[in-house]
Amino acid sequence: MKVTGLVGSPRKKGNTDLLIDKILEGANQVGSSTKKFYLYDLTILPCADCKKCLKELKCSENDDMQRIYKELDQSDVIIFGTPLYWNSMSAKMKLLIDRLRPYTVNNKLRGKKVILVIPSDEGYKACKDLIKLFKNIFNRLGMQLVESLCVKAHEKGEVLKQPKSLENAYTIGKSFGK
Ligand SMILES: Cc1cc2nc3c(=O)[nH]c(=O)nc-3n(C[C@H](O)[C@H](O)[C@H](O)COP(=O)(O)O)c2cc1C
Repeated sequence: MKVTGLVGSPRKKGNTDLLIDKILEGANQVGSSTKKFYLYDLTILPCADCKKCLKELKCSENDDMQRIYKELDQSDVIIFGTPLYWNSMSAKMKLLIDRLRPYTVNNKLRGKKVILVIPSDEGYKACKDLIKLFKNIFNRLGMQLVESLCVKAHEKGEVLKQPKSLENAYTIGKSFGK
């Protein structure tokens, strides 16, 4: 299995990042190959609605999304990690989501598994609307949401004080065999 983690938080070693690390650690343990992208380190331009992708089945914008497209195409499992920002996703994650438009016509994400990672001050209840929103997006792409890890945490790295959350993340990662 190939597992790719997308970190949609600007905080390295923040809660999103640490939870994704644990999932990837679990996946590594059972022989999966893993990769992680820090979205805030990448140039992801906004979708320009040029509609070229609808004809050419690929995006012609020449930025770091081209690297991500390549990885996503080859992944079996994709982790979308974003802190809850204003009851929604982070701005960088939204830029990435908008750029998934080629997949509505080339269908290359169809059948792939998704894990959602969403830390927030308020915890699971506050994340429900965002989960619903993501579900809608993944449905349209033919992807299967298999796990949503919504953890209550505020300070940078706070999840390190929550062994249960880390264990949950590790177990999710381990569930993806070779
Ligand atoms: C701009 C911004 C908006 C936020 N909005 C919410 C929110 O609507 N609800 C909530 O529970 N937490 C909110 N938070 C808190 C973060 O979701 C929380 O601190 C999270 O653990 C950050 O994850 P990270 O460490 O991966 O960056 C917000 C934080 C920021 C910076």
